[in-house]
Amino acid sequence: MAPYSPPTSGRAGKLRLDFNENTVGCSPRVIELLTQKLNAETLTIYPEYEATRAALAEYFQLPESQFLLSNGTDEAIQVLVNTYVDDGDEVIILHPSYAMYRFYSEVAGARIVSLDYRPADLSFPVDELLAAITPRTRAILISNPNNPTGTAIGVGPIVQILERAPHAAVLLDEAYYEFCGITGLRLIEQYPNLFVSRTFSKAFGMAALRVGCLFSQPDNIRYAHKAQSPYSVNLLAAIAVRAAVEDTRFLNHYVEQALAARGDLYAGFTSRGIHAYPSQANFVLFRAGERAISVRDGLRDRGVLVRDRSYEIAGCVRVTAGTPAQVERFFAALDEVWS
Ligand SMILES: Cc1ncc(COP(=O)(O)O)c(C=O)c1O
Repeated sequence: MAPYSPPTSGRAGKLRLDFNENTVGCSPRVIELLTQKLNAETLTIYPEYEATRAALAEYFQLPESQFLLSNGTDEAIQVLVNTYVDDGDEVIILHPSYAMYRFYSEVAGARIVSLDYRPADLSFPVDELLAAITPRTRAILISNPNNPTGTAIGVGPIVQILERAPHAAVLLDEAYYEFCGITGLRLIEQYPNLFVSRTFSKAFGMAALRVGCLFSQPDNIRYAHKAQSPYSVNLLAAIAVRAAVEDTRFLNHYVEQALAARGDLYAGFTSRGIHAYPSQANFVLFRAGERAISVRDGLRDRGVLVRDRSYEIAGCVRVTAGTPAQVERFFAALDEVWS
């Protein structure tokens, strides 16, 4: 299998529109609490999660028995796959989508069934997915909204998938939920085959800390927990989450800005005659055609980072929607490199 090597170095100080992170930083309350708690004793003691779990239960309005804390969504995916998928089991993933679904499924020795997003509009292939479910399907891994296409499915098709695959673990990775508002979280009471993940890496602006959550019915969570190491989330991350979920004003304000920026991206692409795919996340995929690599490089030379995706969707580049001012800076640089 190919190693996953994200191009992550030398990004600080640039306009980072390449990883769908929060582009203004996390809530100041996170920094305050971390500063207050950062001392030798805190660092000496193995992490204790009670206060964090209570804060998360309150924030997500779910009992503590229905989630586990994870080292980013990545660990949530890994734990789910390690718990439910054995060598040779069938796992359905979509293409293009978040690379770690394939990565962990390959590590587990799964037989991967890959379905393409529909080429015309990069919409989710619901009928094709329903048709691909077999008695051997052990897991279905879905990003909703999807990275890098930005497209999402509603609760109706999610329910169809859950009902067609009662024997499979269905993951809805909701890393971009805050920008979209569609969620399967309230379905977990009803569907024992549903797992939902959330992250603090995107809207909350804490990608470096590596925190996420995996939600499901209590029996599943107990089972999945067995496949997790006991201290995979470090204490500073656990402390940070407590402050982050309290500062909903900060979160909502950032999401508002990102949605305005997304609107500005569409307006800017349209006025320049550049095709952009409809996105429900904090990023937009646009068609640069044969210019894709030179646009990425030209923008980087001007201090603006975007992500080339042309290796998986011909001619496409992905740009994060941060703030309207950042969109202006992006287009000013794009206009210099486009022709
Ligand atoms: C769909 C999706 N899921 C998960 C992640 C990673 O999340 P985390 O930082 O919580 O591991 C990403 C990051 O780009 C993503 O796009």
